[in-house]
Amino acid sequence: ANPFEGCTPTQPDLVDLSTFGKDYDQAEALGLRCFADTAVVLVAGGLGERLGYHGIKLDIPVEVTETTSYLAHYTSVIRAASKRLGREIPLVIMTSRETNAGTIATLEANQNFGLAPGQITLLNQELVPALSDIEAHLSIEEKYRLNLKPHGHGHIHTLLHTSGTAKKFAAAGIRHLLFIQDTNGQVFNAAMAAIGVSESHGYDFNSIAVNRIPGEAVGGLAKLEKSGCPPLTLNVEYNQLDPLLRATVSPEGDIPDERGFSLFPGNINLIVLRLAPYLRVLESSRGIIAEFVNPKFSDPERTKFKKPARLETLMQDLPKSFVSGEKVGVTIFDRVWCFSACKNNLVDAAAKVASNGPAESASSAENDFYLAGRMKLRAAGMEVIEAPQKTLSGIPLVPGPRVILRPSFALTLADVRARISGGSISGEATLVLDGDVTLENVTIADGASLVAKAPEGGTLEIKDRTVTRSGAVHDLVPLTDAEMASSDVPEYLRIRGYRIVAREA
Ligand code: UTP
Repeated sequence: ANPFEGCTPTQPDLVDLSTFGKDYDQAEALGLRCFADTAVVLVAGGLGERLGYHGIKLDIPVEVTETTSYLAHYTSVIRAASKRLGREIPLVIMTSRETNAGTIATLEANQNFGLAPGQITLLNQELVPALSDIEAHLSIEEKYRLNLKPHGHGHIHTLLHTSGTAKKFAAAGIRHLLFIQDTNGQVFNAAMAAIGVSESHGYDFNSIAVNRIPGEAVGGLAKLEKSGCPPLTLNVEYNQLDPLLRATVSPEGDIPDERGFSLFPGNINLIVLRLAPYLRVLESSRGIIAEFVNPKFSDPERTKFKKPARLETLMQDLPKSFVSGEKVGVTIFDRVWCFSACKNNLVDAAAKVASNGPAESASSAENDFYLAGRMKLRAAGMEVIEAPQKTLSGIPLVPGPRVILRPSFALTLADVRARISGGSISGEATLVLDGDVTLENVTIADGASLVAKAPEGGTLEIKDRTVTRSGAVHDLVPLTDAEMASSDVPEYLRIRGYRIVAREA
């Protein structure tokens, strides 16, 4: 059954920041200021079954030039922003039975990645009893032991309420919450500008989204209207959206605009929420949010389940609990700029590429991490000449330039522009900038590597220099079949199919 039967979908309120320009810069500048009053909420309780990594996903490196884990990357942004804005920006991490111990171990082993005591709040998500059939009998593992399963990432809303965390944040002057996922290294490229849009447009619930091709297998954000009900802006699964459109305003279904995009932007589950209305919703719902059940049936009568099913929640369903007056909007960004997740193992990722889908592998995520670095250099006016595309393990990759701009170097595009002028970088060059570094007219030749790090309190200026490849430097080396099969090679390399070897820089 289509739960939205009878609704008419129209385009949601949106701000398009998919290209850089004045609007982007204004939103980003405002968002950076507001980031001082923002808490970051990282949902990291997922099982990661599609990736099949033996460990928590937060430990996987987003890049293997210097091997920085997702959690190290996220916390480096929070550390740099806290220092810059003079305020300890809180981080909430939602874990689950499968990820809790691993997350605690990583935080302990890394001294909370330099965050202050009390800056991190861990919330362990609960499990719910699974149901065995259409009569909703409880499924049991053995006598007196219920079969329990995760309740989905929507459970974060329950936990922020029941733990008192949302209230505590309000008392501490927090105004926005930024919800992020466990393996998206791009999120902080767009987050500041999205928070700026929430502030300038008064969005209570702001979905960071991407332009979507009609029919693409990603949920579409739509304003749903039904007589007698206030309009509701929600994520609608693509296979539900098309029939709704056909039955109402668009007999041809979801059709492209003049740029080839659907009127309904693609949801990527990155959300900026204003805390005041959120608290109101949590109080009135007691943190209980809409649930759904999606059983697979084993019989034609649809009474028996193939596997026990459970009630699940999705964090993007929160607007279902909004009453009226809350403002839901969408901010569109360039796709690779804001989202590139590591979700699939290499074999499945290659199959997805073969059928024109996104790879969402560790390698494509790393590829896009460097690509965002190149976008920043270009925005600062540096000339960037890309290396020709290669295919590795069935995944198309552009092997360079590999650019890493650490948050201590730049938190915004404006920072990059202030620190870099002129110069060029080309081919399979590597550039890593960390701390208070400025580059003026620096040329980094194909294959050359420049790693510039200013220590805490120091500054480093590099001017009118050419860096050339003297001997091999940072090289991307595919793993051999034997290495791919060897447990001596770290699993985080085997899930991408290559290593990056630093020989000289
Ligand atoms: P995904 O659907 O991408 O991740 O969840 P997953 O569930 O870990 O992966 P598969 O489907 O098993 O392969 C999106 C985000 O929601 C979190 C994940 O950790 C990820 O950050 N999540 C998902 C939770 O926190 N709890 C859940 O119950 C499910």
